Amino acid sequence: MSVAKERAKKVTTHVLSEMKMRGEKIAMLTSYDYSLAKIVDQAGIDVILVGDSASNVMAGWETTLPITLNQMIYHGASVVRGVDRSLVVVDMPFGTYQGNSKEALTSAIRIMKETAADAVKLEGGSEVLESVNRILSAGIPVMGHLGLTPQSIHKFGTYTVRAKHEEEAKKLIEDAYLLEEAGCFGLVLEKIPASLAGEVAKALKIPVIGIGAGNQVDGQVLVLHDMLGINQEFSPRFLRRYHNLFAEIKGAVGNYIEDVKSVEFPNEREQY
Ligand code: KIV
Repeated sequence: MSVAKERAKKVTTHVLSEMKMRGEKIAMLTSYDYSLAKIVDQAGIDVILVGDSASNVMAGWETTLPITLNQMIYHGASVVRGVDRSLVVVDMPFGTYQGNSKEALTSAIRIMKETAADAVKLEGGSEVLESVNRILSAGIPVMGHLGLTPQSIHKFGTYTVRAKHEEEAKKLIEDAYLLEEAGCFGLVLEKIPASLAGEVAKALKIPVIGIGAGNQVDGQVLVLHDMLGINQEFSPRFLRRYHNLFAEIKGAVGNYIEDVKSVEFPNEREQY
């Protein structure tokens, strides 16, 4: 198969599992809209996460809790329309799966039907296992998320590193096994010690994707607006900024304002 054809091949959960088996790292980024998702997909990203971090970076909320199922569906469907190749995972928002597995299934079905995404992601281990099982029983691929789980921020009280102590690390390992045994196709580990994340990645057969979890895992995920430097309000140690789009966009907008005020825009060639 030609390189071009190979590149265009749709990423599936099976492809991710093969990548883990041959030791190829998985690159994952968030996106929330059609235009940026199209760029991210065409750049060759493996997985696009329509994260509930949309609540922070798109809507300006302090936490991920306020975003609704309808809003996640809007973002998910917008992203899917821009994507040809990447696997698209949509976060299940807070309150749509925690207490009641029937509601969890209804929410996951709405996400799959109304966005045409490939999978859903939800936070937690044993506490949400019934919901995970019920969603999986409908044939919907599920990605787990352990460690720092931002939907539980009011329980933790802080965004500091999780599972530094033995008891919490033990629970995280148990939860990781539970999610794998249930049938999750992948797992995100957020902000935990690199050695613990490496241990989990080595023990599990499913791909383990880290954010602030070191380089011994099977892949990495970052929030697009953070790594592009659009969002300047968030600077944790694990974040590498690949651009300073805040400054670039501000500069471009400044130039436009100047041109409008000085009637330099539009010029002769830019009018009818
Ligand atoms: O919502 C999100 O962007 C996430 C990533 C931080 C993994 O869950």
